[in-house]
Amino acid sequence: MEALKGRDLLSLADLNAEEIQGLLHLATQLKSGEVKLRCNKVLGLLFYKASTRTRVSFSVAMYQLGGQVIDLNPNVTQVSRGEPLADTARVLDRYLDIMAIRTFDQRDLEAFASYAKIPVINALSDLEHPCQVLADLLTVQECFGSLAGLTLTYLGDGNNMANSLMLGCALMGMNVRIATPPEYEPDISILEQARAIAAGRSEVMVTNDAKAAVSGAQVLYTDVWASMGQEDSADARIPIFQPYQVNDQLLKGAAKNAIVLHCLPAHRDEEITDAVIEGSQSRVWDQAENRMHAQKALLVSLLGAD
Ligand code: CP
Ligand code: NVA
Repeated sequence: MEALKGRDLLSLADLNAEEIQGLLHLATQLKSGEVKLRCNKVLGLLFYKASTRTRVSFSVAMYQLGGQVIDLNPNVTQVSRGEPLADTARVLDRYLDIMAIRTFDQRDLEAFASYAKIPVINALSDLEHPCQVLADLLTVQECFGSLAGLTLTYLGDGNNMANSLMLGCALMGMNVRIATPPEYEPDISILEQARAIAAGRSEVMVTNDAKAAVSGAQVLYTDVWASMGQEDSADARIPIFQPYQVNDQLLKGAAKNAIVLHCLPAHRDEEITDAVIEGSQSRVWDQAENRMHAQKALLVSLLGAD
């Protein structure tokens, strides 16, 4: 994966189909133990929002590669006392080999990356969650053997997950259907970008009709109805999003061999019922594990192996 060395991953659209396929292939080889790589470098984690999976899976991936991790909690750095991001970026660039940043505004990631020469990874922003989608694609590929031609239906809020899933599915020749309540549709410019990428090869659909969106799909996907930073509107959203809940009734409309994914954390009996997340079609634990394998492949590709 020499082509990825030194690059940033701020949006899933920073990668092309061949590069994603290469990352998934390497992740599979690293997961099975068929390939062992070392990368004795230092990863910095700058997270302005909570995280369990992303923080731990990035850390363990780096440790297993023989590298090290510095957790740069904004509260214990000068970031919380107003040091400009441009200054922080130029300083950390001199110490670290790679950065993963979780933040609100995508423009902060772009600004950081413009001031730092080291690779910068989007570990979730309000706009995108590309690392999650690499793990999601790996999980779908493990279940179905390949990706092109499959249909993934995402139900719920047109949020960062919906945006990155549209791009990821379009890049890999998958059909993607996003079912949201009116006024909660995904980002219009990312929708247009995904449609341009799909360019007639596959379908990128946005609808308010949950049942129609699910019909015959091989992958059902959901996420919290209120993302981090939207806690104040969480209660008001419950009745609005109820028709988009992934439950047994809705699942019956999908393909017989359909799998159910959720990036987690899940709110049981809100966006997904306890029966479905614990049921035989759920693959959420494999999906969460795959964060580590996909990101290990990403880290070693952006940094180069020793
Ligand atoms: N899916 C995901 O990104 O989980 P965390 O918020 O726990 O990192
Ligand atoms: N949409 C969710 C994803 C969490 C992994 C959020 O941004 O909070």
